[in-house]
Amino acid sequence: MYPLKNGQLWPRNQWYVAGWSNEFDEAPIERTILGERVLLFRGESGRATVLAGLCPHRFMPLVKGARSGDRIECAYHGMTFDGDGVCTKGPAGAPPGGATRIKRYATLEQGPLVWVWMGEADAADPAKMPDTSRCGIATDGWRADPNGTMHFAARYMLMVDNLFDLSHIAWVHVSLLGKPTLCDQPVAVSREGCILRADRHETGPVDDFSRYLFPESVGPIQQTLGTELLGPGLITAVGPWVREAEGSPLVGKDWGQVQFVHVITPETATTTNVFSLVSRNFRLEDEGLTAALCAQNKAVLAQDCEVAGLIEAGLNEADTMSELSFRPDHGAIEARRYIQSLIDAEKAQ
Ligand code: FES
Ligand SMILES: [Fe+2]
Repeated sequence: MYPLKNGQLWPRNQWYVAGWSNEFDEAPIERTILGERVLLFRGESGRATVLAGLCPHRFMPLVKGARSGDRIECAYHGMTFDGDGVCTKGPAGAPPGGATRIKRYATLEQGPLVWVWMGEADAADPAKMPDTSRCGIATDGWRADPNGTMHFAARYMLMVDNLFDLSHIAWVHVSLLGKPTLCDQPVAVSREGCILRADRHETGPVDDFSRYLFPESVGPIQQTLGTELLGPGLITAVGPWVREAEGSPLVGKDWGQVQFVHVITPETATTTNVFSLVSRNFRLEDEGLTAALCAQNKAVLAQDCEVAGLIEAGLNEADTMSELSFRPDHGAIEARRYIQSLIDAEKAQ
């Protein structure tokens, strides 16, 4: 399915975020992740639990059931499953029967997020967890503020495209961010292990936004605006990252960086949940700055949400085979290639 090959939608054997830590509560909720309906709850043991969302007896949604301890009892005929998905009671008092179970998903709780492995639980690979220290989540010297969940009526890959497309900032976000001259700089794409980066750099006088963030900056400054794919479900927008440049009396001074962290979890083939955080490594006690950056991030995301929804709605009519790409699309094209390579590697296993 566009823009991937052969009807593929996303890599499956990966960690995605199932929800915020505080969404895992005694009362189960349900969510669709990678097209699978799942049940999220926190049982008596305190473990964030993700199980299949439908009862295998007559497919009653388990979210309508009752949780007791670490177990969930179906509301239709009382079939019961423990936190590992093992059936402990059959329907209407029948014995549970052999190896009856529902799918259990491996989870990892980290700071404000609960990650879920969407492949087989026994194959869950902690080594594939994205390196969240690069975007300041649960990292010394940083703060990462959760900034809500936004539902996009657009496929997962449109989000990947959008986040690796640094050019659209000067059009879609012009009302909020102006037209940063940084957007005119060439994009440098690089790969470091499983991390894909697209960067733009610029050296010049201190601009309004940098002065707002770093009032003591003198300039000239070097600014970096970039995107880092830390995992298929985690893309962070770095920027600006500001350092004093050659010609400044403070040359070499690193003022810090702000990151707009996008945790993207495919929902269905054409919808996506985006959990967002704003992180930074400067002015950590400044709650006013936090509020301003979070408000800006929400407004920017709402603009992206509108654009992505419009593109998704038009894809049925588009001849996607004749898509035109130009030099500034370099970063987004590389991101597509990378996601495709993850899917291809999965298929080859
Ligand atoms: S549908 Fe769940 S017990 Fe019958
Ligand atoms: Fe955007």
